[in-house]
Amino acid sequence: MSAALTEILEKLKAERVAFGGDVSTLTDLDAVEDVRVKYLGRKGSISAYFKSMGTLAAEERPQLGGELNLLKEHIQQELDGLRSKFAGNGACDDSLQHDLTLPGTAHELGHRNPIMQVLDEVKAILATMGFDVATGPLVETAYYNFQALNFPADHPAMDLQDSLHLDHGLLLRTHTSPVQIRTMEKSQPPIRIIAPGRCFRKDTPDATHTPEFHQVEGLAIAEGISLAHLKGTLVAFARRLFGKQTKVRFRPSFFPFTEPSAEMDVYFDEKLGWLEILGSGMVDPNVLEGVGIDSEKYTGYAFGMGIERIAMLKYKIDDIRHFYENDIRFLNQF
Ligand code: PHE
Repeated sequence: MSAALTEILEKLKAERVAFGGDVSTLTDLDAVEDVRVKYLGRKGSISAYFKSMGTLAAEERPQLGGELNLLKEHIQQELDGLRSKFAGNGACDDSLQHDLTLPGTAHELGHRNPIMQVLDEVKAILATMGFDVATGPLVETAYYNFQALNFPADHPAMDLQDSLHLDHGLLLRTHTSPVQIRTMEKSQPPIRIIAPGRCFRKDTPDATHTPEFHQVEGLAIAEGISLAHLKGTLVAFARRLFGKQTKVRFRPSFFPFTEPSAEMDVYFDEKLGWLEILGSGMVDPNVLEGVGIDSEKYTGYAFGMGIERIAMLKYKIDDIRHFYENDIRFLNQF
């Protein structure tokens, strides 16, 4: 064996000892990585030894190559072991791992969707005005979704709603108005309910449409209810929701189940101007008679608002699809 090879092999032994010393002091992943770079990195000591092979005679090179590979494997195995040890517990050593007084691992909590926050706020405001909460099924019959609400068969309003139809003549409700009918069938006036919930229409998602959305319906039936009650209630509601100075206006509109009907707009600012936030009207006598309520004795009003729309205006959100993406960076802002 040449003197040159003997000398390199001696150095290799020392290298293994030095490595042993280095790893005995490691306590975290970063330090493991530093040691890896020192020995196995492109400019590390093991590479340098491989390069020094060129100085040896051809027949001595395999012997050094074999030794180097053994050392390299040894280093790799040691570091892998340390890496899996430190991966689970950050910079913990065994004694710290058993210290039960250390704080636990923090788990990031989810966040309430702004839709749910606005729904709760709307419900809370209307609750203080005496409205009870009623619910109804998401899968409806055409009768409750349309006919009982005075949509004549083949009325174009039904096409406009572009429903998602299921088998057996059922469909996903396109609005919360069927809950009006279900409530009036079950109870006698005076009635004062809101019906919050999901609705569905066959819309392709874009910045202002999603096939699933939320509405809050309102219904009040009693003797002597007039348009003044409707306006008073909705103006008070808008000012509670958007602020005391909020300006609103009512625009004549049409819904088969209310007569007269009006849409309520809220004035936001110079840029946005007047924006529609709900539909409303006096319950059509045909609807009352259809559920057996005497329309000569009782009158009532109804309204229905889109919650996504309100949440977008309240929080200045420019794309409705954000609500449904579950991106925690979006949700955390509200
Ligand atoms: N259901 C109507 C819609 O979805 C809104 C509405 C409800 C209008 C109650 C008047 C009365 O567009």
